[in-house]
Amino acid sequence: MTETLHPVWISGAARLAGVIGHPVTHSRSPRLHGFWLARHRIDGAYLPLAIRPEDLAQVLPALPRMGFRGVNLTLPHKELVLPLCDEVEPVARAIGAVNTLIFGEDHRITGTNTDAWGFGAALAAGAPARDAAAPALVLGAGGAARAVVYALAKAGAARILIANRTAERAAALIRDLAPHCPATVLEAVDWAARSDLLAGCGTLVNTTSLGLHGQPPLDIDLGLADDRLVVSDIVYDPLETPILKAARARGLVAVDGLGMLLHQAVPGFERWFGVRPVVDAALRRHVAADLLIGEPAPC
Ligand code: ATR
Repeated sequence: MTETLHPVWISGAARLAGVIGHPVTHSRSPRLHGFWLARHRIDGAYLPLAIRPEDLAQVLPALPRMGFRGVNLTLPHKELVLPLCDEVEPVARAIGAVNTLIFGEDHRITGTNTDAWGFGAALAAGAPARDAAAPALVLGAGGAARAVVYALAKAGAARILIANRTAERAAALIRDLAPHCPATVLEAVDWAARSDLLAGCGTLVNTTSLGLHGQPPLDIDLGLADDRLVVSDIVYDPLETPILKAARARGLVAVDGLGMLLHQAVPGFERWFGVRPVVDAALRRHVAADLLIGEPAPC
């Protein structure tokens, strides 16, 4: 059943947050945070802020002075914002990108990254029986792969194999992340060997754009997979990517990419608005309905 949400009229004391992007029209975050604001009847607002990269250094320091509690960042700002922060939390330093800013009373800007936490929380929710210590195979070596590798390592993976079409990017990811994941062996492997390497793995994660609406599907053979393999895709458009469909057809646990999008928003919402929100079926439906429509729908 769809949850009935009523708009909350904001007062002069409303708490403010938002998402900075360029473009920002594609962002699902206003819909997501708007759902929680309405559910908890919070006197607050979460706004899409279209800010050009060349204007970021000028606009950002003004936001805490205008009463904002913090913001999310999306493309192309996640790396650009690093030198503009007064403080960067270790997880964001390790991943090399900031997706959440917290503004202090003194207007200090703290940058963090909740993508790794969000991925870990979504995986734990979608595959509670996953063997977190077993080797994992991660496909891709972009920004999302960094968050995923960090999360898998922190969850206890003894060994993580990273297969990327461009081998140098996998090597760079390992060079940057290895010091932050001392208990995990990070190993670059051949992209062409991805199907063979599945044998003995407990987790497979696709962080490439393959399978995304309009892109070719990810070509991988699950034939050698262990029956307990958990298959996760960070692509959420479509919700059921070809690899997740193939995994389910084989009886494997499959975790879609929407959970990461939803869970990564939890820490920011809590820090800005003072309530720890939950990710549940009603929220999933609310955001997924928007995905099916394609363009953000009016709330
Ligand atoms: P994000 O920050 O979302 O991870 P990205 O940095 O653009 O995005 O990374 C996209 C990932 O998808 C990369 O690992 C990319 O591989 P390359 O590093 O070789 O570019 C991978 N990718 C995109 N298209 C691909 C394709 N056709 N075949 C294999 N990998 C592909």
